[in-house]
Amino acid sequence: MTIWAPEIDITVDPPYQAIVQALSADIGSGRLSIDQRLPTHRDLAETLGMAIGTVTRAYKEAERRGLIRGEVGRGTFVGRADADPVAAPISESAAPSVIDLSCNYPIYSEAPDLGEALGRLATRSHLHEFMRYQPHAGMRRHRAAGAKWAARFGVACDPESVLVCNGAQHGLTIVFCTLAEPGDVILTEALTYPGMKAVARLLHLRLQAVEIDDEGLIPDAFDAACRRQKVTALYLMPTIHNPTTAVLPDSRRRAIAEIARRHDVAIVEDDVHRLLADPAPPPVASYAPERTYFIAGYSKAVAAGIRIGYVAAPREAIERLVHSIWATCWMVAPLTAEIATLWIEDGTADRIVQRKRAEAEARQQMARNILRNAAYKTQPHAFHIWLELPPKWRSAEFTVEARRRGVGITPAEAFSIGDGPAPKAVRVSLGAAESRERLRSGLSTIAAILALSPDACPAVV
Ligand SMILES: Cc1ncc(COP(=O)(O)O)c(C=O)c1O
Repeated sequence: MTIWAPEIDITVDPPYQAIVQALSADIGSGRLSIDQRLPTHRDLAETLGMAIGTVTRAYKEAERRGLIRGEVGRGTFVGRADADPVAAPISESAAPSVIDLSCNYPIYSEAPDLGEALGRLATRSHLHEFMRYQPHAGMRRHRAAGAKWAARFGVACDPESVLVCNGAQHGLTIVFCTLAEPGDVILTEALTYPGMKAVARLLHLRLQAVEIDDEGLIPDAFDAACRRQKVTALYLMPTIHNPTTAVLPDSRRRAIAEIARRHDVAIVEDDVHRLLADPAPPPVASYAPERTYFIAGYSKAVAAGIRIGYVAAPREAIERLVHSIWATCWMVAPLTAEIATLWIEDGTADRIVQRKRAEAEARQQMARNILRNAAYKTQPHAFHIWLELPPKWRSAEFTVEARRRGVGITPAEAFSIGDGPAPKAVRVSLGAAESRERLRSGLSTIAAILALSPDACPAVV
């Protein structure tokens, strides 16, 4: 008997679609490989406690979509029947021998069913719209979906205040293109998202670190930095900070809004991880809407490859932001914005968030078991942990040793600003592993290294 015991989303109706979705997700994540034999209809029905007819219908639909093929007398296999090179698996991830926990990937196994969405779109009569130039800011209904999405993050705005971008990273780029001139000072938490460092390099901005503690950015330190010099903007990640996972308390959010207003500093609030938080305090944007550029990410919560993100901004900045979209990409591809809209409108996006949270919780439990002797910071549904190293280890050395043993992680240096020493810590992404088995293996390797002294490891030459 061939074993494939998928996790079925019992909320999906009709149930056969849940099996198709599981097939699609497991093929996408690599849990099922091309040419792998699938269980017979009867076996899968037994495993799932479903009727044989449901499985038959699911296999038929999956075959129609080119996910699987039936071979007479042999069984059912992953992959389509014809040798269409376009249909070949297109994974370009790192060598499978490396368990890559270095990138903050958002648990790909829990992605929406793209085939199903494309199937629905294919039946529409106005597809030609997606072949045309559309407004730089995004089509009206795509901006309206963005406003709905921003509301999930606690930001109330109308569609005219929302811009559709190619992901949060593009959102950051257009915001800083619009807000800042080369040489301007931008304040960030002392550890920050490497993508922000990249934007600063690109636009020749001067990033300066503001002190943080276990709760996040320290308002008094922000105030002091604003007194010392002219500051253009503060960039911060108040909810499940990358990399420390800190969630900024409400009192600090209010204080930051007040200080920014006093010094006339813009706020760029990157909240891409908010939907993983167990309700976080209101966004800083709600305390300073007149100066906050709020990034409502879609990649972490739903799907990264769709490359959609939304910026909710003060109304008077919209025209200049639109100009920056025009300068950087003319417009976001309306087809992908349409898919994102479809999932926001029909509730798929919300369901995926719930599924990702559940999977993140299971992975967090695994981390608690395997790293029980380690010190680390995280949140119950976060995709990453911030692992504090024993004093004998430096973060770069630890990263090299992990890599030597086949596990990718990210050292503190990647996040630090300025010339000071980076903390002895590394970010481990729990969401990046394609499966729980791979994560277990990666975390076990990390636990084994933690128990060693660097002296016991081969020298780096
Ligand atoms: C804090 C933060 N902001 C932005 C991004 C980029 O997100 P997107 O894929 O939507 O461009 C990431 C991705 O890791 C991130 O961690």
